[in-house]
Amino acid sequence: MGNHILLIITGGIAAYKTPELARRLMDAGHTVTPVLSESATQFVTPLALASVSGSKVYGDLFSLTDEHEMGHIRLARDADLVLVAPATANVLAKMAHGEANDLGTTILLATEAPVLVAPAMNWAMWDHAATRDNMHTLESRGVTTIGPVAGDLACGEEGMGRMADIPDIVNAVASTLKATGPLSGTRAIVTSGPTHEPIDPVRYIANRSSGKQGHAIAAALAKLGCDVTLVSGPTVEPTPKAVKLIAVETAVEMMAAVEQSLPADIFVGAAAVADWRASENAPQKIKKDTLGQSQGASEHCEISLTQNPDILKTVATIGATVGGRRPTLVIGFAAETQNVIENARTKLASKGCDWILANDVSSEQDTFGGLDNEIHLVTRASVEDWPRQSKLDVGRKLAGRIADTLANNAKTRAGGGAS
Ligand code: PMT
Repeated sequence: MGNHILLIITGGIAAYKTPELARRLMDAGHTVTPVLSESATQFVTPLALASVSGSKVYGDLFSLTDEHEMGHIRLARDADLVLVAPATANVLAKMAHGEANDLGTTILLATEAPVLVAPAMNWAMWDHAATRDNMHTLESRGVTTIGPVAGDLACGEEGMGRMADIPDIVNAVASTLKATGPLSGTRAIVTSGPTHEPIDPVRYIANRSSGKQGHAIAAALAKLGCDVTLVSGPTVEPTPKAVKLIAVETAVEMMAAVEQSLPADIFVGAAAVADWRASENAPQKIKKDTLGQSQGASEHCEISLTQNPDILKTVATIGATVGGRRPTLVIGFAAETQNVIENARTKLASKGCDWILANDVSSEQDTFGGLDNEIHLVTRASVEDWPRQSKLDVGRKLAGRIADTLANNAKTRAGGGAS
C-alpha cells in the first residue's frame, strides 16, 4: 500500500525523464497522477505519461470536465505528497511568491500535503540571487529539495543544474513522506499472522490467520511516517513497503523478536499467537506405530502442551515487571466466537493493554483469511462499533486513531496537563 503522489511536471528538458520517474514511483508502490504545465508538453506527451501511470493526465486549469469531475482543490487534497519534477526556476519563483496562474501552481498553493521539488536549470540560473532567495523562502516554509546535481546541462554548459537521478528522487519521496507524516519520529511494533508450533520436523499446530489484518496495520502506520517493525508468523502476504520485517515461526520466537525490537511508542498485537505449544518437538518424524506403541493404544494418542508466553501481556506490563519503557499505546485484538464485547473487556483488563480491537471470528464471518473485518474498539471508557470494511481500511482507521491520540497526548503534555 503506497502513497498517492501528484507529479507536477514543468517545462525543462528533464521533463522527458518523467515517464521513467512515474514508473519507478509506481514500482515503489505509489500511485501517480501527473499534472503537466503547458511548456512541459514541449518535452513530454500527456499520452506517454497516461500510458505509464495509468492515470488521467491533468493540465488545463479551466477544463470544465476536470473541474466537474474532480477540481484542482480535490487534486490538491487527495495527494499524500506533491512532487515538482523537473522544477524550473520559473515555477520555483511562482511558488515562492504564491502565484497561481496554471493548474500546477494553483494546486501548490492549495495543497496541505508535503511538497518536494527536484530543480533543474542552467547553473547560472540556479546560482542567481533571485533563485537562491526563492529556495530559501521555500525551504523555510517546509518545502524539501532533491538536487540539482552537477553534470552536463542541456544548454551545452557544465555545472550544478541537472535534475537529480531518478532513484534519488524516489528515495527522497520516501524520506519526505516519512519525515512529514503525523507519526514521523515514532516507532511501532506490529505482530501479524499465525504461529506454527512444531510437533516434529513435518507437523505443527497452527491456526487460520493469513496476516492480512496485521500487515494492513503495519502498512498504514508506515504510511503515516511511523518507523514500523512487523514481526510476522508464516504468511504469503507481501511485506508492506518501508516496513522492517522480522519473520518468525513460533510464539517463543515472536516473543524474542518483539523484546529485541523494543522500545517502541506503539505496539499492536494482531497476530494469532498459539496459546500452547507441543511440550516436546521430536527431532525425527514421529511414526504412527511408534506413537501407538509408546502410549499403549493404536487409535488414540495425546500430545502434551505447554503454555506459550503471552506477548501482549508482557509488553503491556513492561515497567511493572521487567523494567524498561512501556509503549505509550499497547493495542491488542480479541478473536472471539461468542460474547465478543464481554470477552474483549475481560481481555483488556487481564492483559493490561490500552485498547482491544474485538472481532468475531465465527466461521460464517470469514474474518480469518478474509478481506474484510468488523471491529469493535473497546477501551476502558467506551465501546465503538466500526462498520464492516476492508482490512486495509481497518488499518488506515486504526493508524489515524493512533496518530490523533498521540497528538492529543502531546498537546495535553505541552499544556501542562496529564496525558
Ligand atoms: O490474519 P487475518 O487472516 O487477517 O485475520 C485477522 C485476525 C482474526 C487474526 C486478527 O484480526 C485477530 O483477531 N488477531 C488476534 C488473534 C488472537 O490470537 O486473538 P486472542 O483473542 O486469542 O488473543 C488476544 C490478544 O493477545 C491478541 O492481540 C493476540 O495477538 C495476543 N496474544 C495471544 C496469545 C499469546 N500467547 N500472546 C499474545 O500476544
